[in-house]
Amino acid sequence: MESGKQLTGTLAIAVFTAVLGSLQYGYSLGVINAPQKVIEKHYGRSLEVWTERAAVLSENGTDEGEFPEAGDHPSVIMYWSLSVSIFSIGGMLSSFLVGFVGDLRGRVKGMLMVNVLAVAAGLLMGLCRMWKPHFMVIAGRAVMGFYCGLTSGLVPMYIGEISPKAYRGALGTLHQLAIVTGILISQVIGLDFILGNDDMWPLLLGLSGAPAILQSLLLPLCPESPRYLYILLGKEQEARTSLLRLKGAYDPTPDLEEMKSEKEKADREPRVSILSLIRSSVYRQQLVVALMMHFSQQFSGINAIFYYSTDIFTRAGVAQPVYATIGVGVINTIFTLVSVALVDKAGRRTLTLAGLGGMCLCAVAMTVGLKFQVCPINFDQLIEFLWMSYVSMAAIFLFVSFFEIGPGPIPWFIVAELFSQGPRPAAIALAGCCNWTSNFIIGMTFPYIQEYLGCYVFALFAVLLLGFTVFIYLRVPETKGKSFEEIAGVFRKGRKKANPDDGTELQQLKTSTDA
Ligand code: GLC
Repeated sequence: MESGKQLTGTLAIAVFTAVLGSLQYGYSLGVINAPQKVIEKHYGRSLEVWTERAAVLSENGTDEGEFPEAGDHPSVIMYWSLSVSIFSIGGMLSSFLVGFVGDLRGRVKGMLMVNVLAVAAGLLMGLCRMWKPHFMVIAGRAVMGFYCGLTSGLVPMYIGEISPKAYRGALGTLHQLAIVTGILISQVIGLDFILGNDDMWPLLLGLSGAPAILQSLLLPLCPESPRYLYILLGKEQEARTSLLRLKGAYDPTPDLEEMKSEKEKADREPRVSILSLIRSSVYRQQLVVALMMHFSQQFSGINAIFYYSTDIFTRAGVAQPVYATIGVGVINTIFTLVSVALVDKAGRRTLTLAGLGGMCLCAVAMTVGLKFQVCPINFDQLIEFLWMSYVSMAAIFLFVSFFEIGPGPIPWFIVAELFSQGPRPAAIALAGCCNWTSNFIIGMTFPYIQEYLGCYVFALFAVLLLGFTVFIYLRVPETKGKSFEEIAGVFRKGRKKANPDDGTELQQLKTSTDA
């Protein structure tokens, strides 16, 4: 094996430790779904909607059997919706700070610092019975969202910077693998006979902070990113030591040379803030590609499946929707593993194209399935097309599989690949914010879109997916196996072609940031 390309124990520990943050993100994404009814009941109790309702009902002489669900009460609905959505609001806000936190004391110390948030959030939710549960859970979810916004940027940034380029895709995909594992764990332990019940639900929510404790114990063993040490701090010797720890006994000169030339360039260029990144046309192509990758991940409709799968399966006529949802989680994890195996061989562009194209076809199949099965013209057709529920089911499973081979994992790490050291933190922050905002929009609007479009809801995603596939085909270059310098070169060439006056543009960027 070529020296410097082997996967060392230290590299494995560093990546494992980092992705504990991603595991926590996935767990927090998934944990709120299964115990909804149980938690709503407790909200109802603490808001005393039971007493209020009971009084009205006994006045009307209504018997117990007609006692309504707590989830029907407007206050409970409001507090519940807030508990779900405040997570994304926390993430949207904090994703802007990723660059700042990562550059402040380094990637490793950054991840260590933000763990305080995860533990605090876990405690707020785990101990929610000690005060008003609805306030405690909402506060805990907000803090956890804030933490996840930071971790969803810091983890891919750190992994991208420490991975040998031959494995950068596979190791980058482990971020997504940990997310989907977190989702799956939360789905399984959220079952009512495990933790999703009246007694244990605070523990179920509180456990979302647990990986942070393990991560805090392991982070001191992880080497700091050599690129951060050399390019940002100019500490060549420390960068060399870090490289040797990560890559084993090899000659680090070529890596250091590459960083040296990147550093020289970075020193000549201004520090790129989020604002200057948006304004400048120097990085426009990369930025458009990075943002579109994240838009396509979210507007593919994947979270419509994750947030509302139980409802979608019920409408599709599935008898045990909760288990079908867990089935989705399992498929999700298996196909992310497939992506880990393929991404450095097949390439980012190919897998994203195949994934988005496949999802588009599945969205068409889901529309056909739902059309014939849920919206039949008459009763005979309902019987005739009952088998269509299998079409819908298969289409949902395939949709998720296609997502995980490319459009799921790749956007998370490709942003770190597309940008050189200077603009990288700002780009990751912007892309993260775009991801969280789109996620929030889908989560909030999907039920209304579904109401409005009925059986045709997935036709909308099919059209969007087609658009994204065409965009990726036309605009996204392959980054597999290329150094950061080579990738920057691809865009430089494209820019020179479009704008031969490139030098002036760089100078303008410098002046605008200096001012
Ligand atoms: C990606 C998305 C996330 C989604 C998950 C599903 O990580 O960013 O929103 O829930 O994939 O696997």
